[in-house]
Amino acid sequence: MVALVTGSTAGLGREIALRLAARGAQVIVHGRDSERGEALVKEIEKRGGRARFYRADFARLADVRQFAEAIQRDYARLDLLVNNAGIALPSQPRQISADGYELHFQVNYLAHFLLTDLLLPLLEKSAPARIVNVASGAQTPIDFNDPQIETNYSGRRAYGQSKLAQVMFTKILAERLAGTGVTAYSLHPATYMDTNMVRQSGIKPQTTVDEGADAVMQLITKEGIENGAYYSGLKPAKAHAQAYDKEARERLWQLSREFTSPTTK
Ligand SMILES: NC(=O)c1ccc[n+]([C@@H]2O[C@H](COP(=O)([O-])OP(=O)(O)OC[C@H]3O[C@@H](n4cnc5c(N)ncnc54)[C@H](OP(=O)(O)O)[C@@H]3O)[C@@H](O)[C@H]2O)c1
Repeated sequence: MVALVTGSTAGLGREIALRLAARGAQVIVHGRDSERGEALVKEIEKRGGRARFYRADFARLADVRQFAEAIQRDYARLDLLVNNAGIALPSQPRQISADGYELHFQVNYLAHFLLTDLLLPLLEKSAPARIVNVASGAQTPIDFNDPQIETNYSGRRAYGQSKLAQVMFTKILAERLAGTGVTAYSLHPATYMDTNMVRQSGIKPQTTVDEGADAVMQLITKEGIENGAYYSGLKPAKAHAQAYDKEARERLWQLSREFTSPTTK
């Protein structure tokens, strides 16, 4: 089994990578920091597992494209894609990516939209295969008249919008991939886990990384979960109403296609 976990140099993603490797998966470790990535590969190898690190900054769509090309070159199959990399910058001013998009929207959502799209042929070839989108219970509706939040910006709104986009994307994938053997799920892993993201936001952690990892592992391993489902921890949950609005999902799909089109920039 080949498994790719984005943002596995720290926090939840690192724990998922360790658990997958312990179960015998060949793990593709990803992040921006080569030192931490290589250290995790060594740790996995020391425990008898197999892993390789790839560096890609999701604030650059060109990096995402190169990353997907490298995976297609180096692996004949891909059984699991965990879209986990993420940022939360609640008290910082609005920032834009190298491609000109609001930073949370790009790193948390758009980069994963593009990566998933580029890796779909490999996932389909390896079916049954799964996509798990690590979203959040913090969900803010997308204003399609201002998806880049140029007015009334707040970091919380930007984070919430990017996370709801991941939930909507999961439902889009479930519809579009029906019958291919590739299924997609999303979840809120746990509330305020003890990770860099939470500590750097000045929030006192309330749960462990293990709790979040248990929830992600359930979506990776359990049979019989409804395709496109959204979970909170170990239980099925209701996402924000916009996730169930077919027209909004279609708008998000069109917008995402446009923003990631190689001809846009
Ligand atoms: N912590 C919580 O309580 C909580 C709750 C709900 C949902 N979540 C979600 O869980 C996921 C993991 O969060 P975490 O708490 O484990 O955070 P974390 O410890 O800060 O880890 C984030 C990971 O994402 C990577 N990353 C950040 N920016 C990147 C970029 N521009 N390009 C590529 N990789 C990038 C980081 O890599 P570097 O090593 O390069 O920084 C790191 O590996 C996120 O999607 C988050 O939204 C977390």
